[in-house]
Parts: sequence; structure tokens; C-alpha cells
Amino acid sequence: MYIRALRATSNGTDHSYNSVSLPTSQLKSFVVIPAWLKSFKKSAIRTFILHIFAFSQLQIKMAFTPSSLPSLTGKIYVVTGGNTGIGRYTVQHLAEHGARIYLGARSESKANAAITEIKRIVPSADINFLQINLMDLKTVAVAAAEFKNKETELHGLVNNAGIMATPFEKTKDNYEAQWQTNYLSHWLLTYLLLPTLLSTAAAPGAKPGDVRVVNLTSNGHNFAPSAGINFADIDLVKGGIWSRYGQSKLGNILHAKTLAKLYGPNGTSDEGKGIWTASVHPGSINTQLNERTSSPLKMLQPVLQALGVYSTADEGSYSSLFAVASQDFKESDVGGYFVPTAKKGKPSKKAGNEKLAEELWSWSEKEMRGKGFIDA
Ligand SMILES: NC(=O)c1ccc[n+]([C@@H]2O[C@H](COP(=O)([O-])OP(=O)(O)OC[C@H]3O[C@@H](n4cnc5c(N)ncnc54)[C@H](OP(=O)(O)O)[C@@H]3O)[C@@H](O)[C@H]2O)c1
Repeated sequence: MYIRALRATSNGTDHSYNSVSLPTSQLKSFVVIPAWLKSFKKSAIRTFILHIFAFSQLQIKMAFTPSSLPSLTGKIYVVTGGNTGIGRYTVQHLAEHGARIYLGARSESKANAAITEIKRIVPSADINFLQINLMDLKTVAVAAAEFKNKETELHGLVNNAGIMATPFEKTKDNYEAQWQTNYLSHWLLTYLLLPTLLSTAAAPGAKPGDVRVVNLTSNGHNFAPSAGINFADIDLVKGGIWSRYGQSKLGNILHAKTLAKLYGPNGTSDEGKGIWTASVHPGSINTQLNERTSSPLKMLQPVLQALGVYSTADEGSYSSLFAVASQDFKESDVGGYFVPTAKKGKPSKKAGNEKLAEELWSWSEKEMRGKGFIDA
């Protein structure tokens, strides 16, 4: 019995995937079979479930893994939401390859616990805590200033922190919580770090792809309202928890696209160019994000977990790491949308709407100017 599986091409120039056939007898070496499934007697159902597992896991096992990253010694990264989940493993793998990382988190104790744990695994890890609460724009500005006080170079910014389908709530700055946490605060952080990113990209000896910005998005961006971004009701007061999440995650994709247009390899901005960007949907990942949602879907978590629907937080970090540091991420990938694992995906039609992307950039600039966070 054979299954059709996905295998990454290995010529080093193409990270696309080929369909290959594997005999069932080889499955054990590729997939982790849970105990409850092992205990099933040989039957058609067992074979069927086994093949679903194989299909979902092979996509991760046979594609990019962080072990293929180059040495990152001398490179500096900022990762928001680095204290847990996908962000924590993003930090760990960057540290394993010799990078210096600023771990953005709102809680010093949680950040220190993560740093201690990572240092247990990677004793040489060079990780610094950067206090940042995305629900409070002032702390975003302070974090950017603190970073710039300490460092003159920045090679990668991973806008990773996020919340999903949480109850309606306003931030200190009077924006809806998901909108500010997932989108607006990351827009501001990126904007304030742009001079450092641009000067790093323009430094003598800098190579194409040395400087990157990666936004964590979600396939949930498809839940954005019909207008894509509802500028007339940016908090989506009349929307629901999922349309608010969708709008914020659509914002992440549009942001990455505009960054590419303005500051990418062929950037049109006068301020500089050479920053590579991408947005990444990490997959269905087993993290606290799912536990915190107020969606009734939460009740299904144990079942979905038992069915092996979720990948681990470690595996969830792979596509981010690919986009922020892999040599297999090419200039032609800049501004793209990536899905697990490290594959170019196709986002919604709204995500490709350039006018909407421009409008969102202008809206963000105007708002942040109005609140005094960026120069008039
Ligand atoms: N998990 C999935 O299946 C999935 C699917 C699609 C997209 N994503 C995206 O992947 C990213 C990472 O999610 P995850 O699954 O790793 O979630 P997670 O385990 O819940 O981690 C989220 C991180 O964001 C931080 N964060 C939340 N609110 C913050 C705030 N106001 N200020 C500073 N930090 C804040 C959290 O810090 P605290 O610990 O202090 O709360 C935590 O470090 C998110 O952008 C999410 O939308 C995840």
C-alpha cells in the first residue's frame, strides 16, 4: 500500500514540493503514531487514520527544518511574543545558530523563564529581554528607543506576538485589542525600527537578504470583513471576534506587502531599500493562543489535539525561521505569503488589493502621527 506524500526538492534553489509515493511500511520512520492509534487492530479505519496523520506530518518532516539555517553569528534579531509558543522556538533556533536576540515580551518574569529554559538547551544563547506591551503604544515606542540605544544594527524583526478571537476590549490607546496587538503596534514597532533596518541593509559588505521583516499572519485573515479593512469602524464594534481577528491578520499581510513595495529590493521610498519581507501563516499549532480564545471552538481543542490536527510550537516556528533567516528564501519571495512548511501560499483576494494596502499604510501613519508616536 502506498501513500502520496509531499517531498521538498533538494537542489537548494527551489523550495517547492513534489508528490512522491511511500509504502505504508516506511511510514513509521516518518510519522509519530500516537499510542491510541497503535492500539487499533489492523483495519481499514486504522489505515485511513494513519494516512491522515502521515499526510499532515510529512509536510513538516520533509520540508525545511531550522537545522539548515546558516551561521547567524554577528546578526541581531527582535522577536515579539518570544516568551512562549511559536515565538519562543523562533528565539531558540535563532540562538542555536549564533544570533543575538531581543526577546519582546510584556512580562519580565515570563521572558526570564523562557530565557533560562532556552539557555539550558543552548548554553551560549545571547538573548536579551525587551519589555513591550502591544496593548500600550507608549511601551512600543520605549522598546524601539531602548533597542536603538543598545544596537546600531538589526538584521531581522519577527512580528510574532498575537491574540486570537478574544472578547471585545479597548486598549489604553483606545483601539480594539486584537487590532492593536496583532497589527497596529507591530506597524509602529516596524516603523520606528526602519532607520536601523535600512542602515543595516545599506552598510558596506551587506548582502541581499541580510535584513528581513516577517509578520505572523493566519489563514484566519479570510475572516476579515467584506471591505477587508473597515476604516469607518476600525474596531469592528458591530463585528464579531473572528472578523476582528481576520481584519488584524489581513493587516499583517498588507503591511508586509507595502513594506516590500516601499523598502524592498526595488523599493520606491527615498529613505532607502533592501529589506526583505514576508507574511507567514504558521499552521494549526498547539499553543496558548487556542486556550485563550473566547470562541466556542475552544471546547473542541482536546478532540482536535487527540486527532493530531495541531503541530507543535517548535514546528510552528519553522516557516518564520525560513522567511527570516534561510538562504533558500529568495528575492523573488519578497512580500510573499508563506504557509506550512516554508511554502509560498495564496492569500485571499483582499490581501492582494494594492489600493487597500496603501490606504492602510496611510491610515496607520495618520493615526500614529496624530498620537505623536511618529514625526509630523
Ligand atoms: N497557534 C496557531 O495555530 C496559529 C495559527 C495562525 C496564526 N498564528 C499566529 O502566530 C503568532 C504566535 O502565536 P502562538 O500560537 O505562538 O500564540 P501564543 O503561544 O499565545 O503566544 C503569543 C505571544 O504573544 C504575546 N502577547 C500577546 N499579547 C501581547 C501583548 N499585549 N504584548 C506583548 N506580547 C503579547 C504572548 O505573551 P503573554 O504570554 O504575556 O500573553 C505570547 O508571548 C500569533 O501572531 C498568531 O496569530 C498562530
